Amino acid sequence: MDGTFSENDISHVVEADKAHIWHHLSQHKPYETTDPRIIVEGKGMRVWDQKGKEHLDAVSGGVWTVNVGYGRESIANAVRDQLIKLNYFAGSAGSIPGALFAEKLIEKMPGMSRVYYTNSGSEANEKAFKMVRQIAHKKFGGKKHKILYRDRDYHGTTIACLSAGGQDERGAQYGPFTPGFVRVPHCLEYRAFEQDGAPVENYGLWAADQIEAAILREGPDTVGSLCLEPVTAGGGVITPPSGYWERVQEICEKYGLLLHIDEVVCGVGRTGSWFGYQDYGVKPDMVTMAKGVASGYAAIACLVTNEGVFDSFKTNADDPLDYFRDISTFGGCTAGPAAALENIRIIEDENLLENTNQMGARMMDNLNALMEKHAVIGDVRGKGLFVGAELVQDRDSRVPTAEKQVTAVVADCMAQGVIIGMTNRSIPGYNNTLCFSPALIATADDIDRITDAVDGALGRVFG
Ligand SMILES: Cc1ncc(COP(=O)(O)O)c(C=O)c1O
Repeated sequence: MDGTFSENDISHVVEADKAHIWHHLSQHKPYETTDPRIIVEGKGMRVWDQKGKEHLDAVSGGVWTVNVGYGRESIANAVRDQLIKLNYFAGSAGSIPGALFAEKLIEKMPGMSRVYYTNSGSEANEKAFKMVRQIAHKKFGGKKHKILYRDRDYHGTTIACLSAGGQDERGAQYGPFTPGFVRVPHCLEYRAFEQDGAPVENYGLWAADQIEAAILREGPDTVGSLCLEPVTAGGGVITPPSGYWERVQEICEKYGLLLHIDEVVCGVGRTGSWFGYQDYGVKPDMVTMAKGVASGYAAIACLVTNEGVFDSFKTNADDPLDYFRDISTFGGCTAGPAAALENIRIIEDENLLENTNQMGARMMDNLNALMEKHAVIGDVRGKGLFVGAELVQDRDSRVPTAEKQVTAVVADCMAQGVIIGMTNRSIPGYNNTLCFSPALIATADDIDRITDAVDGALGRVFG
């Protein structure tokens, strides 16, 4: 810390926070007797809190966002320069960083061609849902409007996104929901034994076939799209079983479904590729992204489509309702694409995809090694620097560990100065997966420090 805040300043900040801030996803009762954590500064992989305590951040800002790490002056400079030149104009017009970032992004996404800017992952997904609905009206008399989503996936916090949400603890008490969203089963092989009829062999094909079964149940002429995370994030870091994505793609083609991939977490390097879907040879029609696009240096999200989707919105210029009649005020902020351009340059110039693959492999190896020592680790899953460890009471029954104990592991790591995550208010009874998503700049020492902290915490919590 450079001492920017004196003790007195920070105590005032803490008081102001306690008096006025409504923290996200937080129960506030404990703050009546304790102070909330305030993160004051960040550099590289580390952040400092109001007490000056240093933390190694293994979750990139808590929610898999700060992909290139903290304190990047070149991004700050790019944003500053752009803000002085032009901070904003509505997205009905273009901007220099908007056009240049779109061009750069499309270079990384062969087969895709159009970028629609917005300001959050939820909003980007809403745009995709709206496009599906409008295409249904324009081409199919309104009929092909249903949107399939998967158990355990998350697509955002708005009512429509929660209607497409496979995490019941996020949705509970916020209904009634938007009609026309249909759930399909998850593809978590480790928990296949809990799914009726799931086979031991060829599980991936079976899990994908459940999507076809849902389409047939609903009527193929009523289903417009399928929305999936490439690797499920907050629902338990679920990497797809083998054969899954190939079959999913076949099913979408067979029934004329638009394939909407939610890359809000996976996108821009997290899995060791530019996009998670590219790890599995998927050809999407729509891709949404947010968090890592500018590593949190500015708010930016986008929906990227292929030319087929784009074309369906300009068939009749005389019809006043023919085009995508949507706007996002802050989708016109230029700070986002300015930051995103510099963010992508950093990932390229510093070979961060390669580092992500190497460090991700190290993290998986370390956690797999911990399985020998700690019976409570039932499964280790991941892709790149996107890793989860599911904790169970017993490896045979796979009964999930009590959430309180998982929370205790996270708290113990925090006390050691390492911030890790866990599945949080996600699946009832299954908030039992530790989550790791360090910045793509992580070194071998950082990875070892994170897994050493987990080792110590598991020892203390479970003996
Ligand atoms: C996979 C996924 N999609 C969408 C969202 C929503 O993004 P936002 O919080 O920017 O609205 C999230 C947020 O965690 C996410 O994990």
